[in-house]
Amino acid sequence: MLTFTTNSRTDPMPDEERTAILADPGFGKTMTDHMVRIKWTRDGGWENGELLPYGPISLDPAAGVLHYGQEIFEGLKAYRHEDDSIWAFRPEANAERLQRSARRLALPELAVEDFVESIKVLVEADKNWVPEYGTGETSLYLRPFMIASEAFLGVRPSHEATFYVIASPAGAYFSGGIKPVSLWLSTEYARAGEGGTGAAKCGGNYASSLAGQVEAVAHGCDQVVFLDSSTHTYIEELGGMNIFFVHRDGTLVTPELTGTILEGITRSSILQLGSELGLQVVERRIPIDEWKDGVASGEITEVFACGTAAVVTPVGTLKWDGGECTVSTEPGETTMKIRETLLDLQYGKTADTRGWMQRLV
Ligand code: PLP
Ligand code: COI
Repeated sequence: MLTFTTNSRTDPMPDEERTAILADPGFGKTMTDHMVRIKWTRDGGWENGELLPYGPISLDPAAGVLHYGQEIFEGLKAYRHEDDSIWAFRPEANAERLQRSARRLALPELAVEDFVESIKVLVEADKNWVPEYGTGETSLYLRPFMIASEAFLGVRPSHEATFYVIASPAGAYFSGGIKPVSLWLSTEYARAGEGGTGAAKCGGNYASSLAGQVEAVAHGCDQVVFLDSSTHTYIEELGGMNIFFVHRDGTLVTPELTGTILEGITRSSILQLGSELGLQVVERRIPIDEWKDGVASGEITEVFACGTAAVVTPVGTLKWDGGECTVSTEPGETTMKIRETLLDLQYGKTADTRGWMQRLV
């Protein structure tokens, strides 16, 4: 297991300034006082980790990440509980997904225990940045990421990589309370293709989603939803979230993992929680017409998006080139039940019977 050296900052943000930010953090706007760095070389493996003052990183202009996009990342949150302890939700699952992403992007794998320790080290140093218990959907969002840092212009896997963890206090990803968001159906752009990197959490997937997201915003929508790129028929996921449908009989349906969809940890957790709540849960291919027709016939009663940043967010309207349909203008009952079950667990309001919570501080 790696050890970590500490180089604390001598000029952390003054309490008053930080408190003002924590009162209304938004999402991803302010970074905390520190960051973690772990360097890797092909010959030497992982070096010991460092806790450093947060700040710009120095990178050779020829670094692989800047040219060939060899980059992967994760997203998870630290939650303050009522007794002031601080916890993460299934961090080992993020660590394992980072390893899968690393294999796909030909980057080195970081051991699960080192990933979890790196998060502990950062959250311990910046624990004052974790919002108070009972302030709604607030947490400290953690962003671990890894880049190809070798200076070399040939196209091959980098012989040097650097892993970082940064953190940012977070409120709700969508401002405006728990009201249904609108989605734009992208038919021009795909996010991922067969054999590509869709199942990995790499920056390139997000770069490829942005033109669709721009189109969504131009059509007055909050987010973009993508279809499979082979047949343009099946619903995959949003730019940064998975999607679920609630049917009239209570069945919970989500697109199956085809290799082009990110396997969300929220998605996996909801599949388990849903079935524990007595719902039938199904993973299968979902044609886009099933959404449109299901809303018209009343077969589909609720739609929601899910992810670390979005938690569980109700979806109202789907718009496409030439039409739109609205499943509901209010958050649905099943959506809210799942949302509350998940949040209660994350904030320690209900017992963690599944071993999903890991104490950080
Ligand atoms: N799909 C995409 C493309 C995402 O970016 C995310 C967010 O991380 C998710 C799904 C949901 O994953 P998770 O629940 O692990 O946050
Ligand atoms: C997350 O939910 O962690 C993501 O990476 C998605 C992004 C919309 C912030």
